[in-house]
Amino acid sequence: MKITNTSKQKDFVKLSEEWFDNQAKVYDETDTILYSKYGKISCKNICDYLADKTYQTLLDVGCGTAYLIELLSKTHDAKHVGLDLASEMIRQAGKKNIDGAEFVVGRSDGLPFEDNSFDVVTCSQSFHHYPDTDKAMQEAFRVLKPGGIYILSDTGVGFFRMFGVMIDNFVYTRFGNTGDCNVSYLNKSIRDLKRNGFEIVKGEKLTTFIYTVVARKR
Ligand SMILES: C[S@@+](CC[C@H](N)C(=O)[O-])C[C@H]1O[C@@H](n2cnc3c(N)ncnc32)[C@H](O)[C@@H]1O
Repeated sequence: MKITNTSKQKDFVKLSEEWFDNQAKVYDETDTILYSKYGKISCKNICDYLADKTYQTLLDVGCGTAYLIELLSKTHDAKHVGLDLASEMIRQAGKKNIDGAEFVVGRSDGLPFEDNSFDVVTCSQSFHHYPDTDKAMQEAFRVLKPGGIYILSDTGVGFFRMFGVMIDNFVYTRFGNTGDCNVSYLNKSIRDLKRNGFEIVKGEKLTTFIYTVVARKR
């Protein structure tokens, strides 16, 4: 059963853009759930996975203030590209002057890159803001080189799985103004990734609510 929030009543992309434009200046330093707390956990986990891997090109979708790219650039001599919906988050990312990094404003469902251009695509704590999650996975798949790695780390429902997904996506997201619209969980994201052509390398829960899936483009 595919559960995707298709509510026509709210423009979740616009809400996400406004939410993150407004918090961009204080995102990094505000270590709470609605700011960078979960992002820091996901980014650290992605860095740990990539620590002993080599790559030449990495795209971080929903890069925010470049927390992940800043960490990775200290250990990997590679081209790092960050893409984000919110221009203020991208402005903060640019201010960090990270060697070998470039940042663009854009959307997960229409990546402005050629097919087969990246060795790695990452997505940290951004995916639950995407109205069309299949399209986001397909875009990540398209821009990855064959054999390339997609690392998706996100907040999921901790309990009751399908029931929790329905509560989050059809109750919470109707009343919230954060742009959250598709909360998932580890096994559901694994199923969705497989349906969109990926093979799964590993999946793990980092905390009750946070999970990471590493997948490969066949
Ligand atoms: C919680 S922040 C995470 C930022 C960063 N990845 C981290 O882990 O610190 C979510 C980010 O996703 C971005 N975002 C939300 N919807 C998006 C979309 N449809 N396309 C691209 N970026 C999006 C937001 O603007 C925001 O910067």
